Amino acid sequence: LNASIHYVEKQLYVDQQPISQIIAQAGTPTYIYSLPRALANYQAIKEAFAALSPHIHYSAKANANLAVLRALINAGAGIDAVSGGEIYRALKAGAASEDIVFAGVGKSIEDIRFAIENGVGWFNVENVAELDHINTIAASLGKQGVKVALRLNPDVQASTHHHIATGHGKAKFGLGAPVIRDLLQNQANYPQLSFAGIHIHIGSQLHDTQATQMAMQTALDLIGPYATIRTVNIGGGLPAAYHPDETLPDLTSFAQMLTPLLKGYTIFMEPGRSIIADAGILICKVLYIKEQSGQRIAIIDASMTDLIRPALYQAYHHIVPIEKQDSPMVPTQVVGPVCETTDILAENIDLPATLQPGDELAILTAGAYGMVMASNYNARPRPAEIVVKEDGENWQITRQRESWEDLLHGEI
Ligand code: LLP
Repeated sequence: LNASIHYVEKQLYVDQQPISQIIAQAGTPTYIYSLPRALANYQAIKEAFAALSPHIHYSAKANANLAVLRALINAGAGIDAVSGGEIYRALKAGAASEDIVFAGVGKSIEDIRFAIENGVGWFNVENVAELDHINTIAASLGKQGVKVALRLNPDVQASTHHHIATGHGKAKFGLGAPVIRDLLQNQANYPQLSFAGIHIHIGSQLHDTQATQMAMQTALDLIGPYATIRTVNIGGGLPAAYHPDETLPDLTSFAQMLTPLLKGYTIFMEPGRSIIADAGILICKVLYIKEQSGQRIAIIDASMTDLIRPALYQAYHHIVPIEKQDSPMVPTQVVGPVCETTDILAENIDLPATLQPGDELAILTAGAYGMVMASNYNARPRPAEIVVKEDGENWQITRQRESWEDLLHGEI
């Protein structure tokens, strides 16, 4: 719970909106995002890093809902995109093409061409052959000075879940330091490109700052000899709090640690989760309650197809009732209807003893890597998405719940 997702007496609200009222119209399962919360998170990052005046490129992979993108773009954010599709969404949401950074470990020829044609600001490059492609396509389109930032694989171990660590040497991400050294010496081989930046991103949900500091030092040593490289992209990875007892590292001290290293450079950041995770919740309804082997199981109408993080990373998401009940709490396993053993939203979470079928629950901190990772497995339509607008009072459906007919789209 936070300033936006909070109880007023017994009722859970998103900003000034009682969730029960939204759900009466929109049904379940449904994602709700608080734009006031997302914008406050964006401002908090901006303020903590103020000494570095960072250009914040919101990482659209975390949540690419058009209303979310547009709110952040209106607040001044650029966009970190990882595919032609994300660039397309960013442009549709109103991003200026020069404020889009195109990252990604396997950019297709078509996506590179689309990005250059549309004047995307930067390429974060992860592969030598990719540089060749960008150079050749730029030449064929008559484009000069296409800005690239080489992504360093700094070979550091970040302390996060191994599925979301990206900075160790064996990970597929980035270029090793010797390769970068070599490329920087041979910039003349890529006449259409401007080697203007270096990029690191060592993982997501990072709690220690030491690995970042080490990676940063390696990056700065590499670009030190080149006066033309003035932009350092420090990636994303700032954490969000998933557990009520979780404390987050202080953003300001993280910024203070980096500031002396980065003075004089233009700084880019790519936060995703830290902006949108705790601004979003997934609302669901209890379908059945049963006791099995001495354990209470609540079967809900949301599943791993709507929020895959618990099934994929054993991620913890706190769950609370939409309406508080005056009863003791009972440890409960919360599961979805999908035919998979891992379709568990919470292994063991305290919920009211009086919980009944029909009661609604909120799965918290679900704004990042929720809807974007949703699937249609078991022919389940994906949920609706709703935003509570900047004023905190009005809300709107920004994406309709899928229908069965939608599930057939494109099938012949
Ligand atoms: N920049 C790069 C190069 C990235 O690979 C990522 C995330 C970000 C920025 C944004 O990171 P953030 O600020 O959101 O931590 N699905 C996983 C997370 C995958 C992260 C992928 N890369 C999850 O649900 O935890």
